[in-house]
Parts: sequence; structure tokens; C-alpha cells
Amino acid sequence: MTLRKNKIITIDGPSGAGKSTIAKLLASTAGYTYIDSGAIYRGIAYAYKTRKDGGSVEELLRDLPLTFEFGKDTRVSLFGRDISGEIRKPDISLLASSLSQEKPVREYANAVQRSLATGRNAVLEGRDTGSVVFPDADIKIYLDARPHERAHRRYSELASKGSGPGLDIVKQEMEKRDADDSTRALAPLVIPDEAIIVDTTGTDIEGVLKIILAHIKDRDGQKK
Ligand code: DC
Repeated sequence: MTLRKNKIITIDGPSGAGKSTIAKLLASTAGYTYIDSGAIYRGIAYAYKTRKDGGSVEELLRDLPLTFEFGKDTRVSLFGRDISGEIRKPDISLLASSLSQEKPVREYANAVQRSLATGRNAVLEGRDTGSVVFPDADIKIYLDARPHERAHRRYSELASKGSGPGLDIVKQEMEKRDADDSTRALAPLVIPDEAIIVDTTGTDIEGVLKIILAHIKDRDGQKK
């Protein structure tokens, strides 16, 4: 039995499935707080890569001065310096995926997510937000799309920021990251129990939002 009064919606799925766009839209439509869990792993990866002392990840996580603001844009700062652009680079994507296999990193990220969501209605997006971080979430969504379309979306996203490798490299890196995220021992990407599965291939964002809102209405109706 849960004593939680606030509402939690989780959105999990592989990269390029449309999680961020839909999570932000859903959060602003419902007036919920948006929490981008991937940005936490990315912030840790950036801090690890740029650490001066060459210390262990456990040492790094002790009093790590990382701060997060999740709104229309995700803002991540390290020592008060905005690193929101740097954390989106392809090398940080791969490092975040590899560090996310380590227990202390997952514990740190889980604690940040739970503390940000305390007492608030929140939409969280990531790989394990419905399976591990909030297994008692009110609504769990699993977003997916065909690999070709997901690779195209990531490619366009990186290209629009003026950085980024060609489509083939983006696709290869995406496939590696998805395979690693889905097969790791700790909190792998899985379809959470009772999740609503939505395939976003060939559907625009308004279409996906409509499908999700219809499912939520349906679920609410069933619970009454
Ligand atoms: O969602 P993203 O691409 O920003 O996530 C970057 C990496 O962080 C992803 O490849 C794996 C890790 N991650 C995770 O392990 N669990 C989450 N809930 C979110 C992200």
C-alpha cells in the first residue's frame, strides 16, 4: 500500500523514442513537474570526465555540486557553471550509459529523482523510472519506435545544434547504447509491469499525446 498523495507518471524507453518531448508536453499540459533522469546520468558523466584528481566514481559522488532545473529546457550546472550543452554531446551519451551500470551512480540518480518528486505531481522520463525509481507510479508509459526512425530523430536533434556525426555513426552509437542499457545487470531498460506501450513510429507529437491522454483517461475510468 502506498501513502503517497502526489501523482507520478513515468515514461521509459530507448533513445530517440520521443520521451523528452512527450514528457515535457505531458507535464506542461497536466501542470506537473518534469524530471529528466537521463540528464542526471549525463551530469555525472560530465563531472567524471572533467574531474581533476582522477579519483573514483564514489569519491566524485560525495558532495558532487551538480544542480538541475527541469522546465521547458533542462538546465544542469556543475560548480555553478551551466553544462547543459556539453552533456548532450555523443561522448557524454556513451559515458553516461557506461557509468549508469555502476551501483553508486544509480543510487545517486535515484535519490535525486525521488527528492525532486517529493510532494509534487511529476512526470519522470528515463530507462527505469517505472520499473525501479517509482514502481508504484500512478501511470507508467513505455515509448518505443522503429530503430531507423529513432536514429533519424537523434541525428536531426544533433544536427540542429550544429554538432554531430553522420546518420550511420549516430545509428551505430544508438544501437550500442540501447543494447548496453537493456542488458546491464542493474536496472536494465525493461517494459515496466502494467505499462501502457505506445509505438511512436510515424506519429507526430500531438498524435502521441492524444493516444497517451486517451489511455490515461481509460485507466482513470477503470480505477473508479
Ligand atoms: O535519456 P538519455 O539519453 O539522456 O540517457 C543517457 C544515459 O543515461 C542512458 O544511455 C542510460 C542512462 N540512464 C539510465 O541508466 N537510467 C535512466 N533512468 C535514464 C538514463
